[in-house]
Amino acid sequence: MFRNTAEGYGLVSRVLHWAIAAGVVGMMIFGTRIAAMEPSLSNYWLYGVHKSFGLTILGLVLIRLVWHRISPVPEPAGMAGTWQHGLARGVHILLYLFLLAIPVSGWVASSATGIDTVFFNIVVMPAIAPPSEVVAAWGFAVHGALWKGLLALIALHVAGALRHGFGPGSALRRMGRG
Ligand code: HEM
Repeated sequence: MFRNTAEGYGLVSRVLHWAIAAGVVGMMIFGTRIAAMEPSLSNYWLYGVHKSFGLTILGLVLIRLVWHRISPVPEPAGMAGTWQHGLARGVHILLYLFLLAIPVSGWVASSATGIDTVFFNIVVMPAIAPPSEVVAAWGFAVHGALWKGLLALIALHVAGALRHGFGPGSALRRMGRG
């Protein structure tokens, strides 16, 4: 039930997949809203909420990568050796790279502002970059550019899932009901 099998995704992979998917889409909307704001004392807490959820997503992505080592994901049904399989694998690898690079770049940039990154007002996270205006500016520029790349990858990923998405053993069925 919890583990992946040769035919389908187990509960752990499915919950992680949909939690990360929903979280990332929510964070893209949230992030663009806060980036358009003039930072002030009254909206300062919103940045903290964004950072905390972003770090949560980073944690979930890392857990997912470790879980896939413990419980390998199933091969796509009937697609082995095809160019679609190669494309799907390439998109999956890029998705993970972006899912790691986006929160890490946000964390680097936030650290470089010299302001503490506090996880849900509970834990002060270590700064992973020294205070620097240049690093903060570059970090936020990278953070602001990467999410657009991730959005394009998600569009490809969703198109592929819908293309192979229906019927028994299909991609959507396997990631939905297992
Ligand atoms: C998967 C996780 C994350 C996603 C999808 C995400 C997404 C975004 C997006 C779309 C923006 C707007 C960028 C722009 O249009 O210029 C943004 C801004 C921002 N993000 Fe994130 N973010 C994530 C994680 C993080 C983390 C972990 C931190 C810090 C620890 C962080 C700190 C910030 C800050 C401070 C801004 C505002 C930048 C500004 O005012 O220009 N983000 N984020």
